[in-house]
Amino acid sequence: MTSTTDQRLLRTAIFPGSFDPLTNGHVDIIRRALRLFDRVVVAVLVNASKEPYFTAADRVAIVREVFAGEAAVDVETFDGLLVDYARRRQAIAIVRGLRAVSDFEYELQLAHMNRHLAPDVETVLLMTDVAHTFISSRLVKEVFSLGGEVAAFVPPAVERRLQQTREATGGGPRVVR
Ligand code: PNS
Repeated sequence: MTSTTDQRLLRTAIFPGSFDPLTNGHVDIIRRALRLFDRVVVAVLVNASKEPYFTAADRVAIVREVFAGEAAVDVETFDGLLVDYARRRQAIAIVRGLRAVSDFEYELQLAHMNRHLAPDVETVLLMTDVAHTFISSRLVKEVFSLGGEVAAFVPPAVERRLQQTREATGGGPRVVR
């Protein structure tokens, strides 16, 4: 699709997050969103308050590698207000994942704030497969940095990069932030 009109006809959803790193839970949500939308833009937050484990460029490269050949998935970084970014991308929805009821309160708060800021952008909450309910980026980093096995929780592209960070630090544990 090349013309502006065609672009507007595409039903675009933004899937925003830190993705530090991308987990199998995130991958599952992206695949579910692809069934509902013509295009899913994975939006990697640059300006997080905490210093990330992976650079924004690495986080983007991981998503690109995992979804290589999937034309409906786009990935880029964003900064500033999510709703401003969503409007720039002409998105009709913001997609977020739910693992458990404990996620819900925070997601509801985000959704209401975003609705207040941009009533025309709908938030769509999608449940991960039950197999992913205990996976989080934070736990993946913690388990890996303490020498645990994380291959079951992340795509190979992430596992490989985690191993590379271990080799770069001489095999010692890397501090998780
Ligand atoms: O993966 P995360 O860290 O839970 O993602 C949180 C994210 C990126 C969705 C949220 O922090 C966000 O939207 N940040 C952008 C700034 C913004 O718009 N803040 C107001 C949201 S209500």
